[in-house]
Amino acid sequence: MIRALFAAALAAFAVAVAAGNSETEALLEGKMPDDPAKPLVQGKCLLCHSADYLTQQRLTAAQWEKTVDKMRKFGTPANDEEAKLMTAYLARYWTQDLPPPRPVRAPAPRK
Ligand code: HEC
Repeated sequence: MIRALFAAALAAFAVAVAAGNSETEALLEGKMPDDPAKPLVQGKCLLCHSADYLTQQRLTAAQWEKTVDKMRKFGTPANDEEAKLMTAYLARYWTQDLPPPRPVRAPAPRK
């Protein structure tokens, strides 16, 4: 089961790479695409944790909405309008169709 999931994930990844989709590539590198909502997300969502928390998610629009709501309850300083803009931005790129995030590479062990 896990193996099948892993194979499916790898296949999805291979398809994305084969397509040479540079936007997908950038997303998999953890980059945040330019967008009017980007500075908003950078200014409000990176106060308590790194951007990896966001860029490693693969959520539906409804899940993003819930997450942003939850973060506002945690103390994210955003009004309704800003929350909407940020949710739309996050839901546009970090979707369930995006291949899984690349594992963070640990440095080689010292000899
Ligand atoms: C006030 C501090 C704070 C701010 C600002 C903040 N977060 Fe978080 N965030 C947290 C904490 C604490 C956790 C860990 C919560 C947990 O483990 O349940 C977290 C976890 C997450 C996670 C991991 C998944 C989850 O649901 O726990 C995501 C995704 C996330 N934040 C997205 C965002 C986004 C998007 C924003 C901006 C709208 C944001 N965060 C702003 C405190 C914050």
